[in-house]
Amino acid sequence: MKKVALTLAALTLLTTAQARTWAEIKQSGTIKIATEGAFPPFNLLKGKELTGFEVELANALAKGLGLKVQWVTQPFDNLLIGLGQDRYDFVIASHGITPERLKAVDFTNPHYCTGGAVVTKPGGPMNAAALKGKTVAVQVGTTYLENVRKVPGLKDVKTFPKDTDAQAALMAGRVDAWVGDKFTGLDLVKAQKGKVVQGDLLFNEKIGMAVKKGNSSLLKELNAALAKALSNGTYAKLSTQYFGTDVRCK
Ligand code: ARG
Repeated sequence: MKKVALTLAALTLLTTAQARTWAEIKQSGTIKIATEGAFPPFNLLKGKELTGFEVELANALAKGLGLKVQWVTQPFDNLLIGLGQDRYDFVIASHGITPERLKAVDFTNPHYCTGGAVVTKPGGPMNAAALKGKTVAVQVGTTYLENVRKVPGLKDVKTFPKDTDAQAALMAGRVDAWVGDKFTGLDLVKAQKGKVVQGDLLFNEKIGMAVKKGNSSLLKELNAALAKALSNGTYAKLSTQYFGTDVRCK
């Protein structure tokens, strides 16, 4: 009888598992971080290696906190859901800090500032006004989708599971424009050598790391680790390496 009761208690514990607090993470020695791995140059899989600005930044933050890292990759649209299910301790995947997302998760101080930009073929629509009557590609679940929907008179918005698929739709001529991150867009322009051009920014955003709502002990440590990286040169070095400029919020 005792055995059954114990098993049930263990089961209840499992199903109502709480996000790991800072003390629990610290004690385990390993932090579990999730990202997408398909959003260059921020997080991407190069062969089997997970890399990018955010991956390297998170590795540096974990090192500063004295922790090993266990990485998890998930489709972008699943990342915050998995956080709510305690599958990992935090998410770093270029999430813009929006009122909508703040209802579900807590965000660290921003780890970079950016904007959503229009990218098109030469002669194509370069700004919100020119997008009237046009078809636009965006990654699903993103602030690009949210903001593109606000542009009046669009003909159609096509959503793709991955941002790189949305870019491919532009290259293949299946849409008139792609809206994505301004730094990602600059990389695409460079890689495509004159075949695409970057137009205006449709909006600006602050990008943060997400922890489960209410996990204030972890949030505090991540903010402290980020502040340290911002002040000791670690951040500046990484940012210059990836972007040739410092992308911190000013
Ligand atoms: N910054 C945009 C947003 O907040 C796009 C993020 C996309 N991130 C990714 N890993 N694909 O929605």
